[in-house]
Amino acid sequence: MICVVYISSAKLGLTHSEIINIVEDSRINNEKNGLTGVMLFNSGNFMQLLEGEDSTVDALYKKIEKDRRHTEVKLLLREPITHRNFSNWTMGFKNIEKLKETKPELLNSFLTDDFNFSVYQKNPYRALEFLETFKRII
Ligand SMILES: Cc1cc2nc3c(=O)[nH]c(=O)nc-3n(C[C@H](O)[C@H](O)[C@H](O)COP(=O)(O)O)c2cc1C
Repeated sequence: MICVVYISSAKLGLTHSEIINIVEDSRINNEKNGLTGVMLFNSGNFMQLLEGEDSTVDALYKKIEKDRRHTEVKLLLREPITHRNFSNWTMGFKNIEKLKETKPELLNSFLTDDFNFSVYQKNPYRALEFLETFKRII
């Protein structure tokens, strides 16, 4: 199995309901394909972690790279794993912007910088830790 983490920028004007469609379709597909993971959205950017069989994850990542609903897809990490870290999630999802409005207290323990996904390009392992911590509040 492998784990892939990438960041990307939503297409200009992508609506909340289009994002929800991506998540709902992903949950159905991922269930079929034995994939699990998590996706965060903040300030127009996505960060997604996918885990599953090597060829399944690689094939989906190739599709995702070409998806016109986002641009600047940047791979942060592609690593072999021995077990899943998100086995309960066909695609866990949090829109941080909504969370800021509804449950600001949940974000207290994070730094503002933690939500600027581009910082993880310099330290992809921090992205893993961040997503792992985030698991608690999804
Ligand atoms: C940010 C983002 C995340 C996505 N995540 C997934 C995912 O986890 N699983 C999935 O099947 N498709 C995901 N997609 C959609 C794929 O790019 C693609 O549209 C989908 O797999 C259907 O492909 P198909 O029509 O060739 O079957 C994502 C798209 C975007 C923009």
